[in-house]
Amino acid sequence: MTFEVVRTDLLIGGQWRAGSDSRRIAVLDPATGSEMASVAAGTPTDAAAACDAAAVAQASWAATAPRVRSEVLRSCWQIMVDHTEELAELITREHGKPLGDAAGEVAYAAEFFRWNAEEAVRIHGSLSVAPLGNNRILVHHPPVGVVVMVTPWNFPAAMITRKLAPALAAGNAVVIKPPKETPLTALRVADLLQQAGVPNGLINVVPTLDSGSWFDAAVDHKATRMVSFTGSTEIGRVLLRRCADRVLKVVMELGGNAPFIVFDDADVDAAVEGAMVAKMRHSAETCTAANRFYAEAGVAGEFTSKLAAAMSGIKVGNGLESGVTCGPMINAAAIDTIDSLVQAAVGEGASAVVGGSKLDTPGFFYRPTVLADVDPGADITRHEIFGPVAPVITFTDTATMIDQANDTEMGLTAYVYTRDLAKGLSVSERIQAGMIGLNRGAVSDPAAPFGGMKQSGLGREGASEGIYEFCETQYIAASW
Ligand code: SIN
Repeated sequence: MTFEVVRTDLLIGGQWRAGSDSRRIAVLDPATGSEMASVAAGTPTDAAAACDAAAVAQASWAATAPRVRSEVLRSCWQIMVDHTEELAELITREHGKPLGDAAGEVAYAAEFFRWNAEEAVRIHGSLSVAPLGNNRILVHHPPVGVVVMVTPWNFPAAMITRKLAPALAAGNAVVIKPPKETPLTALRVADLLQQAGVPNGLINVVPTLDSGSWFDAAVDHKATRMVSFTGSTEIGRVLLRRCADRVLKVVMELGGNAPFIVFDDADVDAAVEGAMVAKMRHSAETCTAANRFYAEAGVAGEFTSKLAAAMSGIKVGNGLESGVTCGPMINAAAIDTIDSLVQAAVGEGASAVVGGSKLDTPGFFYRPTVLADVDPGADITRHEIFGPVAPVITFTDTATMIDQANDTEMGLTAYVYTRDLAKGLSVSERIQAGMIGLNRGAVSDPAAPFGGMKQSGLGREGASEGIYEFCETQYIAASW
């Protein structure tokens, strides 16, 4: 692909303009560590200008017929699908994930538009008679207004569209701060969506080098009524505190620490296949990733050795190369964090059955790793690894294992493998997580409510729940 098609300025009010910051944001190729492009950097002034533009555009968009909004969203789906190859390559170049995963991400990202095109015409209210019979209670759901979106680098397209599509469907306008690691995909997607017919000013994209002051300006803008964030729990807490100053509506998709549970009666081959998806999709950099594997004693040996064999079969390398199934991690700091967790686990008595170290090559590569004999209390079980490392813990007692699986402030995803459906459902209900994969290694679906319990988040994205997050509730007490 040629980068010439990618606009690298800020998108504000439908215009591409230079950033007010004299610096530019260097985008690194994680497969080599070298700079591959740069984009304009926005300042608080640019963030405020984007909120101004969004406020103007939102008023007329909210007054547009739902069917018209729906058709614009459908065109957004189509244009993304038509540009799958180009977008996938762009994602691979700036994020590093293998091309197959990147194409899967484009399909996933586009699907949020198709799903929400169908939802835009189904935002329902209600009408009831007050219990005393003296008036009617009329409930409807107007849009929130201007929504600020702060998105992560692990899904450069899909974590934008999962928020953007329902926000637009409900009649809102948005100001997006993409991550400095992957701004190119954000800018290209916004450009395509404008070409698909999204009116000027509804989508504003302002990358920045100064996230804190950018966010302050966006939150303090009087038109801003909501913040939707995907990222770490640590940053989510900071943003939540800041949003409290203006009592803004929030949706927070935060960190995970998913247990992956394999019972003695599971189909072990299916569990290994599911484990590889739950652990390794998108180069293991997902917040839904299986983070701790609990294998019951009767299958622990077989599961661990088959998982190790599958992990050894992974080809690590530049995601653009054919056959590569695990790309580089996002940066050098990520590699250091992963390696320090692995070395600490080994220090606590675990053994690395495969992998256990970084690759000694340019770029940010880590060997797919399986750790056996991990102590249930080991430090690695308490941290989101965000890398290709699978710590396996053997368990004998289900109740104790469930206590250990729940002994975390995170509650995003969990995976359960058993041939006994009743057991699978009852264990699923006892796990404190917003999403459970029962005999499945993937839970993400635009038609399902994505989100976490406990400190993994607030609110849901996707499904019909996702669109109501971007709506207010107004009730009219009416007599007639
Ligand atoms: C995430 O990692 O934030 C999202 C993962 C997904 O949608 O599958």
